[in-house]
Amino acid sequence: MIPTLLRPYCAAAAAIVDPAAEVEGVVPTSNPAHGDYQWNFAFRVAKARRENPRAMAEKLAPCFEGRAGIRAVSVAGPGFINLSLDDGWLASQLAAMTASSTTGVEDEGQGRTVIVDFSSPNVAKRMHVGHMRSTHIGDVIVRLHRATGWTVVGDNHIGDWGTPFGKLVVAWDDWRDEAAYAGDPVGELERLYVKFGEAPEAAALGDRARAETARLQRGDPRNRALWADFKARSLAEYEGVYARMGVKFDEMLGESAYADLVDPVVDALLAAGLAEESEGAVVIRDGNQVSVVRKKDGAATYTATDLACVRYRVDRWNPARMVYVTDVRQAQHFANFFKIASKWNVSAEMTHVGFGMLKLPEGAMSTRSGNVIRLVDLLDEAVARARALVDEKSAMLPEAERAMVAEAIGTGSVRYQDLVQSPATDVSFDWKRMLAMDGNSAPYLLYSRARARSILRKAEIVPGAMRLDHPLERELAMSCLRFPEAVSAATRNYAPNILAEHVYRACESFNRFYYELPVLQGGEAAGSRLALVAAADVVMSRGLSLLGLSPLERM
Ligand code: ARG
Repeated sequence: MIPTLLRPYCAAAAAIVDPAAEVEGVVPTSNPAHGDYQWNFAFRVAKARRENPRAMAEKLAPCFEGRAGIRAVSVAGPGFINLSLDDGWLASQLAAMTASSTTGVEDEGQGRTVIVDFSSPNVAKRMHVGHMRSTHIGDVIVRLHRATGWTVVGDNHIGDWGTPFGKLVVAWDDWRDEAAYAGDPVGELERLYVKFGEAPEAAALGDRARAETARLQRGDPRNRALWADFKARSLAEYEGVYARMGVKFDEMLGESAYADLVDPVVDALLAAGLAEESEGAVVIRDGNQVSVVRKKDGAATYTATDLACVRYRVDRWNPARMVYVTDVRQAQHFANFFKIASKWNVSAEMTHVGFGMLKLPEGAMSTRSGNVIRLVDLLDEAVARARALVDEKSAMLPEAERAMVAEAIGTGSVRYQDLVQSPATDVSFDWKRMLAMDGNSAPYLLYSRARARSILRKAEIVPGAMRLDHPLERELAMSCLRFPEAVSAATRNYAPNILAEHVYRACESFNRFYYELPVLQGGEAAGSRLALVAAADVVMSRGLSLLGLSPLERM
């Protein structure tokens, strides 16, 4: 990723060697003594052409000399170009960036459409921590794409169709407890579903269940009504969880929306020669991968539904990108399905963001026993723990504000632990780390931003022209200026952790600056430092919002 400011310079320099070459490879230097950025172009390109990289770098370096914003350029090692940026210029860039409505984030989407398929719980069951991870990660992918100029359709592809409903109808007829259903509908449905699975007469029940599923799919009014009620009550419970998580969807089409599309789609795949009959079923072969798209009994499969759904999405939105967020164990399904889709003329870029497990240690939940954890209970526990923290540390806040702050910290901590590592990594649930006031945690980030707000509230002067005289001032400015790069990289890599890491670094820079340098008592430097605090506040606030954390005024 090339910082915007350096892009034209790099392009001009690269053109000397090869106008068609990739102008990539500008990275922040690891040691500030070597400048702000390092460009590896000469090293990379010369090597490929068997030329001397150092000589090439020396030829390119003069292109940067005397350019606006460049303080120094030098050639280092075997052919790297080190660039230092000019302080006054940095200050003016930062002022412009934080004053702009986009915070400097570039329009990479250019109005193109991306569909983000995320959360996607299976109705009549509790949402589990895997769906929570999908919800948090998918939500940030949505926010990042919106911020970078994409038209986003966030679709909650709920599992609301197929064989589980036939089983539920049978279990409902035989064992329902209506009072329990009225009090805790999802709990009762889950009990029925489990009981069905454990029933000794399962084989006989299976035949009945298949018949009920078929009846449902044919539109039988009683089964449809039961299905609709199971679904509505599940969604009502999910709504409460989504509201707590601060997540909204543009669509909640769900698998049932494609029920009537599946058969024609499978027929079309057969006609196109992509699918074939095999022992009464319809399958798609790719090497030794076999995906069943119609079972022997005519029932639709997960893959078939995804193919019908992709057709629908292409026809309705003509997306340039489609992103699916589920746990990594579905990686093979998506790899197969994407291949089939591309053979079937779906040209959109399709990506599966697979995330690792969230491991709950024994006894993580003090409020509930058993191994089924309700997400609301998890959030409640997080908020209760945050509340204890707030009562201890922020006793001066009025009661209502303390409750609001605890809600933001509690839900934010649960969210942040889903975001802070690269999605594919397994995460172990750790209350202590999640709620720590220092380290890479939600409370630390929220506190850093609240600290900036408090300085801005107390200020009796207005921010002045920004100057970066002290290394810590410069470091903070540099860190803030890298915000657009971080947003872009996080978006392109579907990696909320890249943004999280950046916001964390910016908060660290801000705190180092704050501990070392007086702001309001800074004498001559007060106005400039206040401007720097205001800029840091913009970056921290915007970063927190993109991560879906609620920035707090005080805590
Ligand atoms: N409902 C599925 C599950 O809980 C996830 C669906 C993901 N989206 C999709 N288009 N397949 O595992």
